[in-house]
Amino acid sequence: MPTHRPLPTPPRVGVRIIGTGSALPARVVTNDDIASIVQTTDEWIYQRTGIRQRHVCEQAKGEGNLDLCIRSLRTALESARLRADELDLIICGTISQDLRCPSTACMVAGALGAGRAAAWDLGAACSGFVYGLNVAHDLIRGGNYRRIGVIGADTVSALVDYTNRGTCILFGDAAGAVVLTATDDPTKGCLAQANHANGSAWPDLFMPGDEAMVTEEYDRASVRPMCLQMNGKAVFKFAVGTFQELIAETLEKAGLTADQVDLFVCHQSNARILEAARERFGIPPEKLYINIDRVGNTSAGSVPLCYDELVRAGRVREGMTVMFVAFGAGLTWTSSLWQM
Ligand code: COA
Repeated sequence: MPTHRPLPTPPRVGVRIIGTGSALPARVVTNDDIASIVQTTDEWIYQRTGIRQRHVCEQAKGEGNLDLCIRSLRTALESARLRADELDLIICGTISQDLRCPSTACMVAGALGAGRAAAWDLGAACSGFVYGLNVAHDLIRGGNYRRIGVIGADTVSALVDYTNRGTCILFGDAAGAVVLTATDDPTKGCLAQANHANGSAWPDLFMPGDEAMVTEEYDRASVRPMCLQMNGKAVFKFAVGTFQELIAETLEKAGLTADQVDLFVCHQSNARILEAARERFGIPPEKLYINIDRVGNTSAGSVPLCYDELVRAGRVREGMTVMFVAFGAGLTWTSSLWQM
């Protein structure tokens, strides 16, 4: 005979994205601007990556990660018609915090007046926003949280070595945010998700604190501490394969086919990687959003920036099926398939 009472059945809660926002620094750095610093050309960068320009913070003017985070979540709250103190939690996916301590999420909470909402940063590089979206979704579904703000933000321009043409051509700065809320309609929310990492491949993309941390595949003498190191070829290979496996895995979990997904909102790391996935799944161009030409790779800011642009362009409607996909340093990869 069981001595304990059965747990009550949790209420069936749905989750909706009710607000979005994003922020880009005003300063634009074109490929020609980069070509005036390192040996490269607009043509080379565009052909290899699809990037024409990126937005970059003016650190000298005090512009940084925190500003972008505050601006994006403030806009998301305005569009959700909520006050910051109505949030239960703020999660900020970022690897380029202005301060090591406290978390950016806490500083955003303070700046926006989020009262006693919980707040923490989530470090998963370019996967940070989608990891955070999945965590926030599941916390709401679990019944302990009702409203969560999720930010994805990075200012990688502060972490790249502008003498290293292998990395400095790729990255730009941006933040994006969403506000999630519980709803009585349990059909709304995440239909399937996948979250993965391969920790043994971390040397392919990392930021050494000092020379001693530089792994043997890199030329130690040319490495600048606290700057991103990348094995471009290895990351490219990982991204092409993983991106496609991730989409396939997520579709299989949800029991859907690619043509049943209305929009793919993907991390913008390289137009060729996106194009390869589009071809494999037969996704028409209008269903796979691309803005890398205008903003470059904005790490954790990439997916929420794309989503905010789509929402503001009126391209996201109630009832749509939307897949968020990201991958990055770690190596990490993650997806989230939503019924809006
Ligand atoms: N401009 C001009 N030439 C360049 C260059 C640049 N910015 N960077 C490298 N080259 C040169 C190389 O020196 C090499 O010359 P060589 O053949 O004489 O040796 C040649 O171009 C090819 O270099 P390679 O590194 O093989 O280029 P690539 O086709 O792999 O493209 C990346 C480089 C970085 C664009 C590509 O590897 C990539 O996109 N990787 C994934 C990066 C990524 O997505 N990172 C973030 C993940 S979230």
